[in-house]
Amino acid sequence: MAYRPRDYYARKAKEERYPARSVYKLKEADQKYKLLRPGQVVLDLGAAPGSWSKYALERVGKKGLVVGVDLQEVKLSHPRFVFLRKDIFELTPEELLSAAGVSAFDVVLSDMAPKTTGDRSGDHFRSVNLAEQALLIAEKVLKPGGVFLVKVFEGEAFPRFVEEVKRRLGPVKRFRPKSTRPSSREIFLLVKRN
Ligand SMILES: C[S@@+](CC[C@H](N)C(=O)[O-])C[C@H]1O[C@@H](n2cnc3c(N)ncnc32)[C@H](O)[C@@H]1O
Repeated sequence: MAYRPRDYYARKAKEERYPARSVYKLKEADQKYKLLRPGQVVLDLGAAPGSWSKYALERVGKKGLVVGVDLQEVKLSHPRFVFLRKDIFELTPEELLSAAGVSAFDVVLSDMAPKTTGDRSGDHFRSVNLAEQALLIAEKVLKPGGVFLVKVFEGEAFPRFVEEVKRRLGPVKRFRPKSTRPSSREIFLLVKRN
């Protein structure tokens, strides 16, 4: 049987008890850009099934906090984890800040993705729509100097979205993790808020 890297990451996630292989994307970004630190308050948009939140909880430690949001349930029980089962288009910044008991978040993560349909252009626009909503939320809840990491599927609206992130938050880095499947058009944007 041919060697398939995706099997490697899926197996590794199982062995290390993360619910999804996507954890290695965040881990790689964290190791490369030093995103997460003890004591931070983190917002994880599109948190299900819970790998990113689980990893973030390990990194922020006993004095940190993670708020996860998703349409789907996250089965993660942890004293420093707050979960809101909601559509991000129906969330208010006040709701998020009050769930965390803070006036701003240190880090906003978004690994949100639409249900893919095979229509690459439609999937791209739905992904940009989610990323734009994540940007709107980050703009309202992220503290100055805070970090925003957002996934988006590349396509024709991508350059405009990058410009929008730059204009509203600050200089942008592009990041494509090693564990991203070769066929995927996903890319992550990373920005430290001005
Ligand atoms: C790739 S998964 C996230 C995986 C997660 N980072 C992990 O490591 O476990 C994308 C998630 O985005 C969520 N999502 C998509 N649209 C959403 C919306 N409008 N509001 C909230 N969550 C949404 C999906 O339900 C899905 O669970």
